[in-house]
Amino acid sequence: MLDHEQILIRRGPRSGLPVIIALHSTALGPAAGGLRLWHYPDWRDGLTDALRLSAAMTLKFAVTGLASGGGKTVVALPPGTWLDPARRRDVLHDVADQIDSLGGTYTVGPDVGTSPADMAVIGEVTPHVFCKPKHLGGSGDSSPHTAHGTLAALRAVSRRLYGESDLKGLRLGLIGLGHVGEHLARLLAAEGAHLTVTDIDPAKMKIADELGAAWSSPEEIVSTDVDILVPAALGGLLTTQVVGQLHCRAVVGPANNQLDTPETAELLHQRGILWIPDHVASAGGAVHAITTEVHHATPDEALARVQAIEGTVTELLRTADDLHVTLAQAGHEMAQRRIRAAAGLVPAEG
Ligand code: PHE
Repeated sequence: MLDHEQILIRRGPRSGLPVIIALHSTALGPAAGGLRLWHYPDWRDGLTDALRLSAAMTLKFAVTGLASGGGKTVVALPPGTWLDPARRRDVLHDVADQIDSLGGTYTVGPDVGTSPADMAVIGEVTPHVFCKPKHLGGSGDSSPHTAHGTLAALRAVSRRLYGESDLKGLRLGLIGLGHVGEHLARLLAAEGAHLTVTDIDPAKMKIADELGAAWSSPEEIVSTDVDILVPAALGGLLTTQVVGQLHCRAVVGPANNQLDTPETAELLHQRGILWIPDHVASAGGAVHAITTEVHHATPDEALARVQAIEGTVTELLRTADDLHVTLAQAGHEMAQRRIRAAAGLVPAEG
């Protein structure tokens, strides 16, 4: 069954590259979701990613209580492609034309492989873009806010597991020191957590040194004895095999699409490992951008909205207990309730 409202695939007239926009749902409001500019073996793999990621955006906004729908854009780069600045501009303008043609039904933001500077280039063509640099009137880099959102989710999980939201002394294994991962590592170190970190790039070891964190390899960190594992790299980490190796009580991180297949959530549940759905633990960046740029929140109000993810995770834990389901199913249930309420099918709550 086609779950998406609209899928637009066009070969960019300037770049010749496939530009894929997946609009999953506008039931709660105009859709939002980032532009992923990434390498895929085949453009169809990029399409698969766009379909999954856009559905996750719908859940992200519904669960965190924002009146936005879910979408995502993927530009599938053939393996080994490098974009020089002129070609990158062409790609971004191709993307911008396609977004503009949707007339505001969908607004793009940054995602893996794109930055506020790229959003500025898109902004030359269309107003439907989040996270332009601040001097151009946007809300800027969303990564620190994503990290704050994950921190909020970790506090809720810590309270559930150990009775207090303080992360001091907690043993955390952080996978990935990219934009979000590095911000998160710094926040967690400042909280007094005991960090073990890894990245595929060994040059990141100097961040570990600076923060007094232990360094592990990407292969070994998943079986390291920690309280909580924090995936902050590309998706697909949690496979049947990896779940079998885990030595932690919870998995809570900002990476998108952490499960290889939805059934893996069941496996985690059976092993008694709390898995906070990634669409909640990663929501801070999008929540900050939308509350700031659409709802004109002040910086304090936007931060409060990001920190409210702690309450959302607590509600998720409670819903899962009440319904005797996994947290992933509880997330779907909470999202569906909001979507049904918005459609006027049942009275809105909360
Ligand atoms: N990368 C962000 C996410 O996955 C996308 C985004 C950022 C969307 C900012 C809107 C605004 O949530």
